[in-house]
Amino acid sequence: MQVRSGNEIREQFLRFFETKGHRRVHSSSLVPANDPTLLFTNAGMNQFKDLFLGAERRDYSRATTSQKCVRAGGKHNDLENVGFTRRHHTFFEMLGNFSFGDYFKREAIQYAWELLTSKEWFGIDPAKLYVTIFEGDASVPRDSEAYQYWLEVGVPEERIFELGVKDNFWAMGETGPCGPCSEIYYDFGREAAEDPSVDKPFPEDEQRYVEIWNLVFMQFDRAGDGTLTPLPKPSIDTGMGLERISCVLQGKLSNYESDLFVPLIRRVAQLANAKLTVNDLEGGLAEALAVADLDVAASMRIIADHSRAATFLISDGVLPANEGRGYVLRKIIRRAIRHGRFLEQTEPFLFQIDRKSVV
Ligand code: ALA
Repeated sequence: MQVRSGNEIREQFLRFFETKGHRRVHSSSLVPANDPTLLFTNAGMNQFKDLFLGAERRDYSRATTSQKCVRAGGKHNDLENVGFTRRHHTFFEMLGNFSFGDYFKREAIQYAWELLTSKEWFGIDPAKLYVTIFEGDASVPRDSEAYQYWLEVGVPEERIFELGVKDNFWAMGETGPCGPCSEIYYDFGREAAEDPSVDKPFPEDEQRYVEIWNLVFMQFDRAGDGTLTPLPKPSIDTGMGLERISCVLQGKLSNYESDLFVPLIRRVAQLANAKLTVNDLEGGLAEALAVADLDVAASMRIIADHSRAATFLISDGVLPANEGRGYVLRKIIRRAIRHGRFLEQTEPFLFQIDRKSVV
Protein backbone atom coordinates (compact mmCIF):
# COMPACT_ATOMS: atom_id res chain seq x y z
CA MET A 1 0.00 0.00 0.00
CA GLN A 2 1.37 3.40 -0.97
CA VAL A 3 1.93 5.57 2.11
CA ARG A 4 -0.10 8.76 2.20
CA SER A 5 0.12 11.66 4.58
CA GLY A 6 -2.79 12.65 6.81
CA ASN A 7 -3.30 15.69 4.58
CA GLU A 8 -3.54 13.49 1.50
CA ILE A 9 -5.98 11.14 3.21
CA ARG A 10 -8.25 14.04 4.19
CA GLU A 11 -8.16 15.31 0.62
CA GLN A 12 -8.87 11.87 -0.85
CA PHE A 13 -11.90 11.43 1.40
CA LEU A 14 -13.38 14.79 0.42
CA ARG A 15 -12.61 14.23 -3.26
CA PHE A 16 -14.22 10.78 -3.24
CA PHE A 17 -17.48 12.26 -1.98
CA GLU A 18 -17.27 15.16 -4.44
CA THR A 19 -17.21 12.56 -7.23
CA LYS A 20 -20.46 11.27 -5.70
CA GLY A 21 -22.15 14.66 -5.95
CA HIS A 22 -21.43 15.98 -2.44
CA ARG A 23 -20.76 19.64 -1.71
CA ARG A 24 -17.47 20.20 0.13
CA VAL A 25 -18.37 22.30 3.15
CA HIS A 26 -15.86 23.98 5.46
CA SER A 27 -15.48 22.80 9.04
CA SER A 28 -17.54 24.84 11.48
CA SER A 29 -16.08 26.40 14.65
CA LEU A 30 -15.42 24.29 17.74
CA VAL A 31 -17.82 26.66 19.49
CA PRO A 32 -21.26 25.57 18.32
CA ALA A 33 -23.41 28.35 16.86
CA ASN A 34 -26.79 28.79 18.55
CA ASP A 35 -26.80 25.46 20.30
CA PRO A 36 -26.96 25.65 24.09
CA THR A 37 -27.26 21.83 24.27
CA LEU A 38 -23.65 21.44 23.20
CA LEU A 39 -20.39 22.37 24.94
CA PHE A 40 -18.10 21.89 21.93
CA THR A 41 -18.61 20.74 18.38
CA ASN A 42 -18.36 16.97 18.88
CA ALA A 43 -19.31 15.58 15.47
CA GLY A 44 -19.45 16.50 11.80
CA MET A 45 -23.24 16.59 11.88
CA ASN A 46 -23.52 19.41 14.43
CA GLN A 47 -23.48 22.19 11.88
CA PHE A 48 -26.24 20.38 9.95
CA LYS A 49 -28.53 19.68 12.90
CA ASP A 50 -31.32 21.94 11.66
CA LEU A 51 -31.16 20.41 8.18
CA PHE A 52 -31.77 16.95 9.68
CA LEU A 53 -34.64 18.33 11.74
CA GLY A 54 -36.18 19.91 8.64
CA ALA A 55 -35.93 23.39 10.19
CA GLU A 56 -33.47 24.70 7.56
CA ARG A 57 -33.00 24.24 3.81
CA ARG A 58 -29.89 24.70 1.68
CA ASP A 59 -29.20 24.47 -2.02
CA TYR A 60 -27.51 21.07 -1.63
CA SER A 61 -28.74 17.76 -0.24
CA ARG A 62 -25.33 16.03 0.00
CA ALA A 63 -22.30 17.35 1.84
CA THR A 64 -18.83 16.25 2.88
CA THR A 65 -16.62 17.79 5.54
CA SER A 66 -13.53 17.40 7.65
CA GLN A 67 -14.81 18.74 10.95
CA LYS A 68 -12.76 19.97 13.91
CA CYS A 69 -14.10 18.19 17.00
CA VAL A 70 -13.40 18.30 20.72
CA ARG A 71 -14.61 15.50 22.98
CA ALA A 72 -13.59 16.71 26.41
CA GLY A 73 -16.82 17.41 28.24
CA GLY A 74 -20.50 16.83 27.67
CA LYS A 75 -22.05 13.59 26.35
CA HIS A 76 -19.05 12.45 24.33
CA ASN A 77 -16.04 12.83 26.61
CA ASP A 78 -12.71 11.09 25.97
CA LEU A 79 -10.47 13.23 28.19
CA GLU A 80 -9.59 10.52 30.71
CA ASN A 81 -8.67 8.01 28.00
CA VAL A 82 -6.21 10.29 26.24
CA GLY A 83 -2.61 9.19 26.58
CA PHE A 84 -3.52 5.72 27.81
CA THR A 85 -4.94 4.33 24.59
CA ARG A 86 -3.56 4.38 21.08
CA ARG A 87 -6.49 6.20 19.61
CA HIS A 88 -8.31 8.64 21.84
CA HIS A 89 -7.94 12.38 21.50
CA THR A 90 -9.48 15.46 23.01
CA PHE A 91 -9.20 17.19 19.63
CA PHE A 92 -9.54 15.32 16.34
CA GLU A 93 -10.81 15.73 12.81
CA MET A 94 -13.94 13.88 11.79
CA LEU A 95 -14.32 13.08 8.11
CA GLY A 96 -17.95 12.77 7.11
CA ASN A 97 -20.50 12.50 4.34
CA PHE A 98 -24.07 13.63 4.80
CA SER A 99 -27.38 13.19 3.05
CA PHE A 100 -30.26 15.47 3.92
CA GLY A 101 -33.27 13.44 2.82
CA ASP A 102 -31.39 12.40 -0.34
CA TYR A 103 -29.80 8.91 -0.32
CA PHE A 104 -30.18 6.56 2.64
CA LYS A 105 -28.75 3.29 3.94
CA ARG A 106 -28.00 1.44 0.72
CA GLU A 107 -25.87 4.18 -0.87
CA ALA A 108 -24.22 5.11 2.42
CA ILE A 109 -23.02 1.52 2.77
CA GLN A 110 -21.99 1.25 -0.88
CA TYR A 111 -19.98 4.49 -0.72
CA ALA A 112 -18.24 3.55 2.51
CA TRP A 113 -17.26 0.14 1.21
CA GLU A 114 -16.01 1.50 -2.10
CA LEU A 115 -13.87 4.20 -0.51
CA LEU A 116 -12.33 1.81 2.01
CA THR A 117 -11.66 -1.17 -0.23
CA SER A 118 -11.30 0.07 -3.82
CA LYS A 119 -7.70 0.00 -5.06
CA GLU A 120 -8.34 3.41 -6.60
CA TRP A 121 -9.07 4.87 -3.16
CA PHE A 122 -7.98 3.52 0.24
CA GLY A 123 -7.43 -0.07 -0.91
CA ILE A 124 -7.88 -1.74 2.50
CA ASP A 125 -7.99 -5.54 2.43
CA PRO A 126 -11.63 -6.53 3.17
CA ALA A 127 -10.29 -9.43 5.25
CA LYS A 128 -9.23 -6.79 7.82
CA LEU A 129 -12.73 -5.34 8.18
CA TYR A 130 -15.78 -6.16 10.29
CA VAL A 131 -19.12 -4.39 10.41
CA THR A 132 -21.85 -4.07 13.00
CA ILE A 133 -25.56 -3.29 12.81
CA PHE A 134 -28.20 -2.39 15.41
CA GLU A 135 -29.73 -5.50 17.01
CA GLY A 136 -32.94 -3.66 17.90
CA ASP A 137 -34.64 -2.84 21.20
CA ALA A 138 -38.12 -2.14 22.54
CA SER A 139 -38.57 1.05 20.47
CA VAL A 140 -36.49 0.52 17.29
CA PRO A 141 -36.42 -2.79 15.38
CA ARG A 142 -33.34 -4.76 14.32
CA ASP A 143 -31.69 -3.10 11.30
CA SER A 144 -32.27 -5.86 8.79
CA GLU A 145 -31.93 -3.41 5.89
CA ALA A 146 -28.37 -2.48 6.80
CA TYR A 147 -27.62 -6.19 7.21
CA GLN A 148 -28.90 -6.85 3.70
CA TYR A 149 -26.92 -3.98 2.16
CA TRP A 150 -23.68 -5.18 3.77
CA LEU A 151 -24.26 -8.60 2.24
CA GLU A 152 -24.92 -6.89 -1.12
CA VAL A 153 -21.53 -5.17 -1.16
CA GLY A 154 -19.89 -8.51 -0.41
CA VAL A 155 -19.30 -8.58 3.35
CA PRO A 156 -19.64 -12.23 4.43
CA GLU A 157 -22.29 -13.07 7.03
CA GLU A 158 -19.71 -14.08 9.60
CA ARG A 159 -18.24 -10.58 9.54
CA ILE A 160 -21.53 -8.80 10.28
CA PHE A 161 -22.25 -8.49 14.01
CA GLU A 162 -25.34 -7.20 15.82
CA LEU A 163 -24.82 -4.93 18.80
CA GLY A 164 -27.06 -2.95 21.13
CA VAL A 165 -27.84 0.68 21.89
CA LYS A 166 -24.46 1.50 23.40
CA ASP A 167 -22.60 0.75 20.16
CA ASN A 168 -25.20 0.94 17.43
CA PHE A 169 -27.59 3.75 18.23
CA TRP A 170 -26.07 7.18 17.89
CA ALA A 171 -27.34 10.41 19.42
CA MET A 172 -25.76 13.83 19.32
CA GLY A 173 -26.83 14.65 22.88
CA GLU A 174 -29.68 14.06 25.30
CA THR A 175 -32.02 15.56 22.71
CA GLY A 176 -31.93 16.07 18.94
CA PRO A 177 -31.36 13.94 15.84
CA CYS A 178 -30.45 10.29 16.36
CA GLY A 179 -30.80 6.86 14.85
CA PRO A 180 -29.44 3.34 14.51
CA CYS A 181 -25.93 3.11 13.16
CA SER A 182 -23.58 0.69 11.52
CA GLU A 183 -19.90 0.72 12.38
CA ILE A 184 -16.88 -0.47 10.44
CA TYR A 185 -13.98 -1.92 12.40
CA TYR A 186 -10.39 -2.55 11.40
CA ASP A 187 -8.44 -5.53 12.70
CA PHE A 188 -4.97 -4.36 13.69
CA GLY A 189 -3.91 -7.99 14.21
CA ARG A 190 -2.49 -9.98 17.10
CA GLU A 191 0.38 -7.53 17.48
CA ALA A 192 -2.10 -4.91 18.70
CA ALA A 193 -4.09 -7.21 20.97
CA GLU A 194 -4.63 -6.58 24.68
CA ASP A 195 -2.56 -9.71 25.19
CA PRO A 196 -0.75 -10.59 21.94
CA SER A 197 -0.48 -14.22 22.99
CA VAL A 198 -4.26 -14.56 22.93
CA ASP A 199 -6.13 -14.65 19.63
CA LYS A 200 -9.52 -13.23 20.57
CA PRO A 201 -12.29 -13.05 17.98
CA PHE A 202 -14.16 -9.88 17.04
CA PRO A 203 -15.45 -7.90 18.95
CA GLU A 204 -13.78 -9.10 22.13
CA ASP A 205 -10.53 -7.19 21.95
CA GLU A 206 -10.85 -3.41 22.01
CA GLN A 207 -7.18 -2.78 21.34
CA ARG A 208 -7.09 -5.03 18.33
CA TYR A 209 -10.46 -4.27 16.67
CA VAL A 210 -10.93 -0.56 16.29
CA GLU A 211 -13.94 1.33 15.01
CA ILE A 212 -12.85 3.44 12.06
CA TRP A 213 -16.14 4.65 10.62
CA ASN A 214 -19.62 5.15 11.95
CA LEU A 215 -22.56 5.37 9.54
CA VAL A 216 -25.59 6.84 11.27
CA PHE A 217 -29.02 6.39 9.78
CA MET A 218 -30.67 9.53 11.12
CA GLN A 219 -34.32 8.77 11.60
CA PHE A 220 -35.54 10.37 14.84
CA ASP A 221 -35.61 13.53 16.90
CA ARG A 222 -35.29 12.65 20.57
CA ALA A 223 -37.21 14.81 23.05
CA GLY A 224 -36.17 15.51 26.65
CA ASP A 225 -38.41 12.71 27.94
CA GLY A 226 -36.80 10.18 25.57
CA THR A 227 -39.67 10.09 23.06
CA LEU A 228 -38.54 9.46 19.47
CA THR A 229 -40.32 11.38 16.72
CA PRO A 230 -39.50 10.39 13.11
CA LEU A 231 -37.53 13.03 11.19
CA PRO A 232 -39.24 14.59 8.16
CA LYS A 233 -36.84 12.69 5.88
CA PRO A 234 -34.46 9.85 6.74
CA SER A 235 -30.90 11.15 6.44
CA ILE A 236 -27.28 10.07 6.61
CA ASP A 237 -24.53 11.24 8.95
CA THR A 238 -21.16 9.51 8.98
CA GLY A 239 -17.95 10.04 10.91
CA MET A 240 -14.47 8.67 10.44
CA GLY A 241 -11.56 9.88 12.57
CA LEU A 242 -8.80 11.24 10.35
CA GLU A 243 -6.24 10.22 12.97
CA ARG A 244 -7.49 6.62 13.04
CA ILE A 245 -7.70 6.14 9.28
CA SER A 246 -4.24 7.71 8.92
CA CYS A 247 -2.90 5.18 11.42
CA VAL A 248 -4.46 2.35 9.38
CA LEU A 249 -3.30 3.59 5.99
CA GLN A 250 0.20 4.36 7.22
CA GLY A 251 0.52 0.82 8.62
CA LYS A 252 1.00 1.96 12.23
CA LEU A 253 -0.44 0.56 15.44
CA SER A 254 -1.09 3.89 17.15
CA ASN A 255 -2.52 7.19 15.97
CA TYR A 256 0.40 8.80 17.76
CA GLU A 257 2.75 7.12 15.29
CA SER A 258 0.99 8.64 12.29
CA ASP A 259 2.46 11.68 10.57
CA LEU A 260 -0.22 13.82 12.25
CA PHE A 261 1.49 13.28 15.61
CA VAL A 262 5.11 12.25 15.12
CA PRO A 263 6.43 15.80 14.70
CA LEU A 264 4.58 16.88 17.85
CA ILE A 265 5.86 13.93 19.86
CA ARG A 266 9.38 14.69 18.69
CA ARG A 267 8.96 18.28 19.72
CA VAL A 268 7.72 17.25 23.16
CA ALA A 269 10.75 15.02 23.59
CA GLN A 270 13.02 17.84 22.51
CA LEU A 271 11.51 20.46 24.79
CA ALA A 272 10.78 18.43 27.85
CA ASN A 273 13.57 16.84 29.72
CA ALA A 274 12.20 13.47 28.70
CA LYS A 275 14.25 10.37 29.27
CA LEU A 276 13.83 10.03 25.56
CA THR A 277 15.89 12.26 23.32
CA VAL A 278 15.22 13.29 19.75
CA ASN A 279 18.04 10.99 18.70
CA ASP A 280 16.39 8.00 20.34
CA LEU A 281 13.31 8.80 18.34
CA GLU A 282 15.14 8.76 15.03
CA GLY A 283 15.37 4.97 15.24
CA GLY A 284 11.59 4.74 15.07
CA LEU A 285 8.95 6.18 17.27
CA ALA A 286 7.28 2.85 17.97
CA GLU A 287 10.46 1.26 19.27
CA ALA A 288 11.42 4.35 21.21
CA LEU A 289 8.04 4.59 22.89
CA ALA A 290 8.06 0.88 23.60
CA VAL A 291 11.35 1.07 25.48
CA ALA A 292 10.44 4.28 27.22
CA ASP A 293 8.94 4.23 30.63
CA LEU A 294 5.18 3.75 30.18
CA ASP A 295 4.38 6.87 32.15
CA VAL A 296 6.81 8.92 30.08
CA ALA A 297 5.19 7.76 26.86
CA ALA A 298 1.71 8.55 28.19
CA SER A 299 2.81 12.03 29.26
CA MET A 300 4.28 12.68 25.84
CA ARG A 301 1.07 11.63 24.13
CA ILE A 302 -1.02 13.74 26.49
CA ILE A 303 1.10 16.85 25.87
CA ALA A 304 0.98 16.32 22.08
CA ASP A 305 -2.78 15.80 22.16
CA HIS A 306 -3.58 18.64 24.54
CA SER A 307 -1.41 21.13 22.67
CA ARG A 308 -3.53 20.54 19.59
CA ALA A 309 -6.78 20.89 21.53
CA ALA A 310 -5.64 24.09 23.27
CA THR A 311 -4.43 25.61 19.99
CA PHE A 312 -7.64 24.93 18.10
CA LEU A 313 -9.89 25.99 20.99
CA ILE A 314 -8.05 29.25 21.47
CA SER A 315 -8.07 29.95 17.73
CA ASP A 316 -11.85 29.48 17.79
CA GLY A 317 -12.15 32.09 20.52
CA VAL A 318 -12.22 30.06 23.75
CA LEU A 319 -10.08 31.41 26.57
CA PRO A 320 -9.19 29.76 29.89
CA ALA A 321 -11.83 30.54 32.51
CA ASN A 322 -13.38 29.07 35.63
CA GLU A 323 -16.62 27.92 34.07
CA GLY A 324 -18.12 26.39 30.93
CA ARG A 325 -15.98 26.00 27.83
CA GLY A 326 -13.17 28.08 29.25
CA TYR A 327 -12.99 25.79 32.26
CA VAL A 328 -12.52 22.74 30.06
CA LEU A 329 -9.75 24.53 28.16
CA ARG A 330 -8.11 25.45 31.46
CA LYS A 331 -8.31 21.83 32.55
CA ILE A 332 -6.69 20.69 29.29
CA ILE A 333 -3.85 23.20 29.65
CA ARG A 334 -3.29 22.36 33.31
CA ARG A 335 -3.22 18.67 32.52
CA ALA A 336 -0.61 19.23 29.79
CA ILE A 337 1.49 21.32 32.16
CA ARG A 338 1.23 18.68 34.87
CA HIS A 339 2.54 16.07 32.46
CA GLY A 340 5.30 18.47 31.49
CA ARG A 341 6.28 18.52 35.17
CA PHE A 342 6.41 14.71 35.14
CA LEU A 343 8.92 15.08 32.32
CA GLU A 344 10.92 17.45 34.50
CA GLN A 345 9.91 20.50 32.52
CA THR A 346 9.77 23.50 34.83
CA GLU A 347 9.73 26.35 32.32
CA PRO A 348 6.69 27.34 30.23
CA PHE A 349 6.81 25.03 27.20
CA LEU A 350 3.33 24.33 25.90
CA PHE A 351 3.31 27.36 23.60
CA GLN A 352 6.35 25.94 21.81
CA ILE A 353 4.77 22.64 20.81
CA ASP A 354 4.39 22.95 17.07
CA ARG A 355 5.27 20.76 14.17
CA LYS A 356 7.70 23.12 12.52
CA SER A 357 10.17 23.72 15.27
CA VAL A 358 11.93 20.36 15.30
CA VAL A 359 15.52 21.00 14.34
N1 ALA B 1 -22.16 11.50 14.27
C1 ALA B 1 -21.56 10.19 14.24
C2 ALA B 1 -20.44 10.06 15.22
O1 ALA B 1 -20.02 11.01 15.78
C3 ALA B 1 -21.10 9.86 12.86
O2 ALA B 1 -19.96 8.97 15.44
